[in-house]
Amino acid sequence: MKILITGCAGFIGSHVTELFLKKGFTIIGIDNFDPFYSKEQKLQNLNHAKEYKNFSFYDLDISDRGFASALPGGIEFVIHLAAKAGVRPSIDAPFDYVDTNINGTLNMLDYMRKNGVGKMIFGSSSSVYGNNKKVPFSESDVTDDPISPYAFTKKSCELLNHTYHKLYAISILNLRFFTVYGPRQRPDLAIRKFTEHMLGGKAIHLFGNGQTARDYTFISDICNGIFNAFNYMNAQGILFDTLNIGNHSPVKLIDMVNAIAEALDKKPQLIFDPMQPGDVDITYADISKAQKLIDYHPRVPLNEGIASFVDWYTGL
Ligand SMILES: NC(=O)c1ccc[n+]([C@@H]2O[C@H](COP(=O)([O-])OP(=O)(O)OC[C@H]3O[C@@H](n4cnc5c(N)ncnc54)[C@H](O)[C@@H]3O)[C@@H](O)[C@H]2O)c1
Repeated sequence: MKILITGCAGFIGSHVTELFLKKGFTIIGIDNFDPFYSKEQKLQNLNHAKEYKNFSFYDLDISDRGFASALPGGIEFVIHLAAKAGVRPSIDAPFDYVDTNINGTLNMLDYMRKNGVGKMIFGSSSSVYGNNKKVPFSESDVTDDPISPYAFTKKSCELLNHTYHKLYAISILNLRFFTVYGPRQRPDLAIRKFTEHMLGGKAIHLFGNGQTARDYTFISDICNGIFNAFNYMNAQGILFDTLNIGNHSPVKLIDMVNAIAEALDKKPQLIFDPMQPGDVDITYADISKAQKLIDYHPRVPLNEGIASFVDWYTGL
C-alpha cells in the first residue's frame, strides 16, 4: 500500500515514516522544512528513511493550494502530521498557524476528495481540551474552549475533517496526542530545553511554579498508536472518530525536571515563574476508548523514556 505522510522530516513524522517503511509500506513523504527549527535537524531526521528504496521525498508546502499536483498517483492512505506545532509561538504568529494548519488541512482534504484517497489519520492535540477541569480528559468532553491559536487550529481541523467525512465519505481518525517526547524532539519543547540548560549549567525557568502536569507520552507509544489506528481503519468500513493517544499518567513539571537531572547526574538550578499565557494546568488522557478500539497500550515509563532521550541528545 502507498501511504502519504506529511511532516515526514519532523519529530513525530520521521519516526512514523521509519516504522511504516520497516513494515514494508511504500511511503511518499512531504515536508517543506518549515523554519520553526533547523533544516539540518530535519535532514538528519530523514537519514534512516532515505536508506529505503520504497521511500520518496517531496519538498512541498501544504498551504500552497496546488501542492498536490506534484504527487504520484496510487496513494490510498494519508497520515497527516505536517503543522505549525507549539502553543506559545502560535500566540505571536496566529496567521501562520491558520495558513499551515487549517488551510493546509483543507488543501489535503480537497486533494483526497479529487483523487479518491479514502482514509486519513490526523495528528490532533490534547490542547483542544483547553483548561479542562475534569480529569482525565475524554473524547466526549466539550472542546469549545481553546486558549491558544494552536489549539484553535487543531479543533478547526477536526471539524473540517468531520465535514469532509460527511460530504465525501472519507474515513478519518483524529488522534489527539499528549505531550510527545523522545529522540529527535523539537528544540522548543521543555524536556529538550531543560536538558540543554542543565548540561550548559544554566538556570531552568519553571512556569506555573513547577506544579503544572503533563501526560508525557513516549514517541514509540505514539507510533504504535498510529500503526494500530491504521490497521483498525483498514479493517473497518467508512468511519469518523476521535481518540486520545496519551500515557494516562500525568507527571508534575518539577518531577520531570528531577527525572532529567537524574539521567544526566546533574543538580538543576531552578527559577520558579508564573504561568505563561496559553498554557494549561494539566493534561491527562483517558485512553480507555483507544484501548478498546485500537488496542492501544502505552508502555514506556517516564524514567526510561527520558534516559532514551538523553542518550540521543548527548550523542548529537
Ligand atoms: N510533539 C507533540 O508533543 C505533539 C502533541 C500533540 C500534537 N502534535 C502534532 O503532531 C504533529 C507533528 O508534531 P511534531 O512535534 O513532530 O512537530 P515538528 O515541527 O517536528 O513536525 C512538523 C513537520 O511539519 C513540517 N511542516 C510545517 N509546515 C508545513 C507545510 N506548510 N508544508 C509541509 N510541511 C510542513 C515541518 O517542517 C516539520 O518537519 C503536528 O501536527 C503537531 O501539531 C504534536
